[in-house]
Amino acid sequence: MAFATRHFVRAASSSSSAAKKLIVKHVTVIGGGLMGAGIAQVAAASGHTVVLVDQSDEILKKSTKGIEESLKRVTKKKFADKPEAGAEFIEKTLKNLTTSTDAVAVVHSTDLVIEAIVENQGVKNELFKRLDKFAPEHTIFASNTSSLQITELANSTTRQDRFGGLHFFNPVPMMKLVEVIKTPMTSQKTFESLMDFSKAVGKSPVSCKDTPGFIVNRLLVPYMMEAVRLFERGDASKEDIDVAMKLGAGYPMGPFELLDYVGLDTCKYIIDGWHSLEPSNPLFAPSPLLNKLVEEKKLGKKTGEGFYKYK
Ligand code: NAI
Repeated sequence: MAFATRHFVRAASSSSSAAKKLIVKHVTVIGGGLMGAGIAQVAAASGHTVVLVDQSDEILKKSTKGIEESLKRVTKKKFADKPEAGAEFIEKTLKNLTTSTDAVAVVHSTDLVIEAIVENQGVKNELFKRLDKFAPEHTIFASNTSSLQITELANSTTRQDRFGGLHFFNPVPMMKLVEVIKTPMTSQKTFESLMDFSKAVGKSPVSCKDTPGFIVNRLLVPYMMEAVRLFERGDASKEDIDVAMKLGAGYPMGPFELLDYVGLDTCKYIIDGWHSLEPSNPLFAPSPLLNKLVEEKKLGKKTGEGFYKYK
């Protein structure tokens, strides 16, 4: 009986929360790495109260330092002629931001959880499953995953209607785009709340279904793989392919420069995942050259060598 009552209360509050659009004020960002720190920064800078969560205080110290440095860079540009206003902006933003190593303890008062931890289905599922038990009924969960299915992540919770994708781009403070991903189970209200939140943090959201790579990576990754295949066949040098795409297509970087920037391991991980989903799709075929470079730990800029050398 106690269970039935609780169940009823849950269902009732769930349907009433679904009736009105949630205005996100309090945000929990899980994962203080490259993406999570950037997301926490733009959310705090736009007036949200933000708790940034990671596994240790040491990591969080590094994340906070990175955010402070990034804020200084943003402020230099944004408030070039008004240093006082700039200093106030930094102070206000940092006041909105706190950190924690205990996700469970902080989600009880949050409107939106944005997950930006390691790209691993099992680890993400485990996190969402755990937080689902402690977050309030109205709280929306979102993942920043680049390559995993949002639907699979949502299925690790009991709030599939309050679950979506928020795919930010690197570096978050600079890149204007957010892809808002709606699964077949995401409610319209949740979707609208995520669109509104993306606008509130100063981004231009686009919407996409839960399809591999969403919009940008679905077009970009096969394009980069085609460039590798062109080079592998000996049709053109990598330098000429880069020059051609910059001068002929107006792209700011050539495909090999972009591969090195993104990381060859990341690209291999994405293409291997899609290849296993659709083995007969030639756009998703693995590349022997890319595999060889990854095996040799030539992963791009971050290791000092990829298609080009950076030392
Ligand atoms: P990262 O490796 O820089 O940061 C991940 C952070 O998560 C680390 O600080 C790690 O300590 C923390 N972490 C891992 N497990 C945790 C847990 N259980 N609880 C709390 N913290 C945990 O990774 P990055 O690049 O920031 O990527 C994060 C997510 O964002 C991934 O899903 C990735 O696919 C996605 N993404 C990455 C982009 C990129 O350009 N790097 C672009 C768009 C999305």
